[in-house]
Amino acid sequence: MKRKIKALFVASEMASLAKVGGLGDVMGSLPKALKKNGVDAEVVIPRYEHISKKNFKLVCRLGRKTVVYAARKKGVKVFLIDNKKYLSRGPVYFERTAFAGGKKEIDRFLFFSKAVFELIRCSFFKPDIVHANDWHTGFLVKLLKSSPKVVFTIHNLANQGAWRGKNWMAEGIKSADFVTTVSPTYAKEILTKEYGEGLERFLKKRAGEKKLKGILNGIDYSFWPSKKRDKIKFQEKLGLFKNKNAPIFGLVARLTSQKGINLIVPLVRKLIKKYGAEFVFLGQGEEENEKTLLKLAEAYPKNVFTKIGFDEKLAREIYANCDFFLMPSLFEPSGLGQMISMRYGTIPVARATGGLKDSITDGKTGFLFKEKSPQALLGAMKRALGVFYQKRKLESMRQNCKKQDFGWNISAKAYKKIYQKLLGRLRL
Ligand code: GLC
Repeated sequence: MKRKIKALFVASEMASLAKVGGLGDVMGSLPKALKKNGVDAEVVIPRYEHISKKNFKLVCRLGRKTVVYAARKKGVKVFLIDNKKYLSRGPVYFERTAFAGGKKEIDRFLFFSKAVFELIRCSFFKPDIVHANDWHTGFLVKLLKSSPKVVFTIHNLANQGAWRGKNWMAEGIKSADFVTTVSPTYAKEILTKEYGEGLERFLKKRAGEKKLKGILNGIDYSFWPSKKRDKIKFQEKLGLFKNKNAPIFGLVARLTSQKGINLIVPLVRKLIKKYGAEFVFLGQGEEENEKTLLKLAEAYPKNVFTKIGFDEKLAREIYANCDFFLMPSLFEPSGLGQMISMRYGTIPVARATGGLKDSITDGKTGFLFKEKSPQALLGAMKRALGVFYQKRKLESMRQNCKKQDFGWNISAKAYKKIYQKLLGRLRL
């Protein structure tokens, strides 16, 4: 039997050690799923200030001030790179939006890339595949020059790590042996001007070489144990009107323009007046969005609840107790919120883009709309409300949602196949 493929995942986040967004969730679950499929997957991230070294042991030094620690997390080996100056002081990202900010952030991940490069070059550490993720690892991809083979995954093309003429997302795309992104639809969308974020030229080239593929993300069902719906208790806890006939729309997201907050805001008042609708918003991001959502909660305290920040527990309650889950994203590489909410029978109302389009069937497991406008979203919300008042139809859609399988197995197999091809273990 052939030796197992050893794949090293490199990223800026990994749940639960360091999670800001979906990237962290993916790093916390895809390597685990690959292990189940016979790939020896390991992960390396920076040792941020909040990560305790307690259960980690020192495995090597890279120079005088850089230390590598390792531990097993749910069966997956995790390496942390510690360096006081660049990595181990301050939060994961320096901006609330999680998007690349200033020089400090660029320097952090250039340093990280270089350190991982040295780790891979040292004799005891030999992955067959380096699986790099997003702009934070673009410099690493460039340094490695295909040795070992590199898969580069785009989680969000809008965040590019561009600085003084260099663009680290572009470098990753250009230099990797294979580029993937997190849904089939997004893989097509990014070839267009509308979604390509200025990098469509490079992406088209890779697509032409058959080196670009979209693989839909999954969710880790063990993170999302079943939970009983208790709407009244939920409303009571958040100080909303306790009324099972009031439709509740939930949102959990980074509050960036990507997430389409602007489409929701003009509708809130109308829907409260007309339907007694309730809204629950959770997230942080652009200040403007945070302020607007807080103001709505202030103006309608019994209909709108807003919390700015991260709150894993509240997020779970939103997924499990709202009637509908809002994702009017302007673009959405994969999106995980729709999958999590469906798992609990909370029906998504989403824009037909990227992974949302690939995971939601309009009228069966959710409500999709196309145009980037409040009117189009309103149309989908009205259709959702139509179903809300037909209890049997509502129940049948909820059951359809719950029956979906968004486990990682199929996607893990697709990644494994790419590794095998790159290593010449499968014929092209
Ligand atoms: C980014 C994308 C999101 C995706 C996640 C994980 O956060 O915006 O759509 O689900 O990465 O790949």
